[in-house]
Amino acid sequence: MDRFVVRPSGALRGSVRVEGAKNSALKLMAACLLCEGTSRLREIPDIADVAIMSEVLEAIGAEVVRADGQLSITTPMALTPIAPYELVEKMRASFVVLGPLLARVGHAKVSLPGGDDFGSRPIDIHLHALGELGAKFTSEHGYVEGRADRLVGARIALDFPSHTATDNVLMAAVLAKGSTVIENAAREPEVLDLANFLIAMGAQIDGAGTSRIEIQGVDELHPTEHTCIPDRIEAATYLIATAMCGGAIKVERAIATDMDMLLEKLIAMGVEIERLPGAIRIGSEGRLHSIDVATLPYPGFATDYKPPLVAALSIADGVSIASENLFAGRFRYIDELRRMGADIRTEGHHAVIRGVPALSGAQVRAPDIRAGAALVLAGLVADGETIVTGVEHIDRGYFDIVGKLSNLGADITREFVETRGQ
Ligand code: EPU
Repeated sequence: MDRFVVRPSGALRGSVRVEGAKNSALKLMAACLLCEGTSRLREIPDIADVAIMSEVLEAIGAEVVRADGQLSITTPMALTPIAPYELVEKMRASFVVLGPLLARVGHAKVSLPGGDDFGSRPIDIHLHALGELGAKFTSEHGYVEGRADRLVGARIALDFPSHTATDNVLMAAVLAKGSTVIENAAREPEVLDLANFLIAMGAQIDGAGTSRIEIQGVDELHPTEHTCIPDRIEAATYLIATAMCGGAIKVERAIATDMDMLLEKLIAMGVEIERLPGAIRIGSEGRLHSIDVATLPYPGFATDYKPPLVAALSIADGVSIASENLFAGRFRYIDELRRMGADIRTEGHHAVIRGVPALSGAQVRAPDIRAGAALVLAGLVADGETIVTGVEHIDRGYFDIVGKLSNLGADITREFVETRGQ
């Protein structure tokens, strides 16, 4: 029941180092199921979602140890290919064990993820693509169960470049018999990172990071070591915080070329951006211009950048339009921003944001990871005190956001609230 107490903070200064990318780390962990032995992963963030993925892997039979700044994952020969409801319900990304388990064991039983705060989140693209490789699925009692003697390579065209569906098929195809081509594949940097890890394990993959990935299946993979790429969404959060508060910070271990769309939008809003090798510097006077933005699959503007950016646009001069093209229901945090005085109207998948001179501190609840970050950022520029509850959502994706923002000069603390049963 922790909560964050956020107060107006003034300009941010200093530097902040970003962790490894959550949305790569979780898939790298799942990929360790593909071979027997111990793989070592560096820069895996110490966040709640990684802890949940560790539990998923342990339920399947792997051993996960964090020591000396790295995660060692030991996968035995025999696995229990089941991802139980209790864990998948906590984190839908657990579903990415489906591809590796089908490839390695020929059998997987994974709880169906269901909807979440973004609205309905189907898995049809995953199942269709794995079906093309020869897996047969049945679904009952809330679980999807897949079987395949040995997966066989195929040409697969995804209906939509789904990020985790691409991950699942990639991890399945590396051990399939023969060659697989994934058309309309997701192009996220995290997909490329996963492919690079698989290649280091002995997989044969060409074209990862483009919309056409070719895989030549191999009989066996071997354990290896890998360093996870930096988290572009975490980097974005600190850049947007500085754009809002004013000041100048350096975001260390950020890859500017992976964040082009965001950086262009921030420049259009009136901030200064300097691209450095392995870092990004931002300077802002805290006065922002309105812009229009529409989310798209990578290399388009990421849906995960949008909640913090909408918080920033809520105090920009003029009217902005933010369109959500990935998750129809990803607007819940807007009601919370309105409670803080933001003037935002939603129409279908568009949000019309009329900048106001100032936000007003209030008690608000984080509905999901990025929305939670948006409310924290809003609190940094709101009059009075903002209390953000539901911080367990923020903990899922951010390591020590309170410590990192405090180091930059933000006035934010974490409080533990004890609740007593009646
Ligand atoms: N979709 C389908 N059918 C499917 C799969 C996806 O219709 O079988 C639709 C979705 O409903 C959505 C669109 O395709 O409308 C895009 O979804 P995608 O599958 O690409 O998203 P995801 O793989 O489930 C990942 C990240 C999200 C991020 C999105 C978009 C992970 C673990 N999650 O989700 O990250 O928002 O890609 O880039 O990689 C977060 O980090 O907070 C987060 C939500």
